[in-house]
Amino acid sequence: MPPGIILPSYVGRRAPEPYRGEDVQSPEVIERMREAGRLAHLALEEVQPMIAPGVTTDAIDAVIHDFICDHGGYPSPLGYRGYPKSCCTSVNEVICHGIPDLRPLEDGDLLKVDVTVFKDGVHGDNCMTFGVGELDQASTDLMNRTREALERAIKAVQPGRQLNVIGRVIESYASRFGYGVVRDYTGHGVHTAFHSGLIILHYDQPGVDTVIAEGMTFTIEPMITLGDYRSHVLKDGWTVVTNDGSRCAQWEQTIVVGPDGAEVLTAP
Ligand code: MF3
Ligand code: CO
Ligand code: CO
Repeated sequence: MPPGIILPSYVGRRAPEPYRGEDVQSPEVIERMREAGRLAHLALEEVQPMIAPGVTTDAIDAVIHDFICDHGGYPSPLGYRGYPKSCCTSVNEVICHGIPDLRPLEDGDLLKVDVTVFKDGVHGDNCMTFGVGELDQASTDLMNRTREALERAIKAVQPGRQLNVIGRVIESYASRFGYGVVRDYTGHGVHTAFHSGLIILHYDQPGVDTVIAEGMTFTIEPMITLGDYRSHVLKDGWTVVTNDGSRCAQWEQTIVVGPDGAEVLTAP
């Protein structure tokens, strides 16, 4: 790490201190999140042009790491619960938390890159899906429809509505195409804490009665599969894959709830 970069307090510990504060953030925290969010978005834009057959996910991780540090941020995953790299790269049937390594990407791979930035005491968290080389039609549709599911969910966010509306919108859209919506991993409150404890489900759970409030900051990050939604973690303790081997797409944004709806913070 270059000198002067401020590390999150969980680095070097087994787990972060549980967050006990409010879900609603102050205008001052939200303002800082605009910068962390912008940097997290720009880091993804930075690697997009290099994604091609033959490139290793380690090379993508290195570019993300350097880009974030060069802009005065810290890559939040590095040292989070012992995670060894600066971003997550999840290929094909890997749902999320794939660890960058030396395996070269192959033509037709479906790649998710998830980037989180810690800057000025707050996090911004986002993920995009990319096709490597020539992508088959089913994967292309999955990639685009998962992005559409996220956009529809973002549009549904309004203060006073139930948080539940997010999962309802995503699940009902995904089920039109017979896709699976991953349930074991969720969106989350994000601000001074990476994962605050506020849970954002991507499927409908009518019992959840939390109400969306102005000033809440959280991610929406649907993981949608071509097959079944069930998942398990590989022996490395991180890599999450579909049980049936079906491919998965994911898009993620960090948002703040404004008076008239969501404002995306992971934006240029
Ligand atoms: N960025 C992921 C999320 O969306 C979390 C990655 S945690 C890590 O919540 F340790 F795997 F990096
Ligand atoms: Co997230
Ligand atoms: Co993320």
